[in-house]
Amino acid sequence: MTMDAETQARFAAMLHHRSKGLAPGDPLVAGIVTSATYHAPDVEGLTRVYGRSGMPTWEALEAQLGLLEDAECVAFPSGMGAISAALFAGLAAGKRVIIPADGYYVTRLLSAQVLAAYGVDVVEVATRDIATADLSGAAVVYIETPSNPELEVCDIALVCARAHAVGAIVMVDNTTMTPLLQRPLDLGADVVVAADTKAPAGHSDVLFGHVASRDPAFIQKLRDWRRLSGGVPGSFEAWLVHRGIETLEVRLERMCASAMVVAGRLAEHRGVANVRYPGLSQDPSHAIARRQMSGFGFLIGFELPDAARAERFLTECPLIAQATSFGSTHTSGERRVRWGDAVPQGFIRLSVGLEPVEVLWAAIAGALEA
Ligand SMILES: Cc1ncc(COP(=O)(O)O)c(C=O)c1O
Repeated sequence: MTMDAETQARFAAMLHHRSKGLAPGDPLVAGIVTSATYHAPDVEGLTRVYGRSGMPTWEALEAQLGLLEDAECVAFPSGMGAISAALFAGLAAGKRVIIPADGYYVTRLLSAQVLAAYGVDVVEVATRDIATADLSGAAVVYIETPSNPELEVCDIALVCARAHAVGAIVMVDNTTMTPLLQRPLDLGADVVVAADTKAPAGHSDVLFGHVASRDPAFIQKLRDWRRLSGGVPGSFEAWLVHRGIETLEVRLERMCASAMVVAGRLAEHRGVANVRYPGLSQDPSHAIARRQMSGFGFLIGFELPDAARAERFLTECPLIAQATSFGSTHTSGERRVRWGDAVPQGFIRLSVGLEPVEVLWAAIAGALEA
């Protein structure tokens, strides 16, 4: 992981972001404010009137995320809450959205089942084809890179240039990377969406999401969507994410380094096929990943010969939690075919956690032999 100097400085500033506004005797840590309403003898000029419009705990988190993204951020109660807000704010009946055919399956379901029913023209394009696909007629080009679960990568700057040339805006799901490993807004994207449920909160104990953009009009649309739809985050959840993000950089450092070791050894293991990790020099994603990512992440894809072998591996390995989701302290893994992803029966997505790498590898190697 080689975060540039500017991102490092941003992370350091983020750790101290509350200091400026503190009066002597104020608590150093953001509070969990649960008030649903505010003292409002007169509403004129008041920014906080009712809890659906704003909460001090979300505001602390949005300020923190804003420093990392170098953009204004709007918080949502889950990654899907953030994604649906961005898509509803950016689209309308009769508009076309291009979404990844191989991205997070719930985004595809949202598009096919909800956006299409509201008159949006939904077109699916595989991540590996988006840089050369015909984008004409699209209002929104939505990409996910690396994609979940196959870790395909596309060239964000190239997609943005091509999308902008036909008048489309670009939204990037940056969940698998976080703003510390990949900076889509700096590469030309208009909007970033992310599930902070994963590495940013980092402990599998909260669902959360955010949208980041440098376009004030788009940010206003998102805030309006949140207030009108009522899909607002809880203060306790915002507080957990605020706390989790403070250790994001050290956790990512360990997770990315371990993932590199595990991916390399899996690639050399005779019982394992088709290892996907953008950090491996032989991976089809490696060339673009090196250009646009400052770390290769903590997700690995690989295949065991069939469903039974893959299930046995997952059951036998004491250091792999058999669970969906990723980016947590513990290593976790699952067969993605169980969610309907178009992958082989024996395909496993592994999320590498914080276990010391040699202990983790010994457990993985042992389960592969089982
Ligand atoms: C790439 C990606 N985006 C978005 C989401 C949705 O996040 P959440 O589960 O917080 O709604 C997920 C969840 O797994 C994901 O993997």
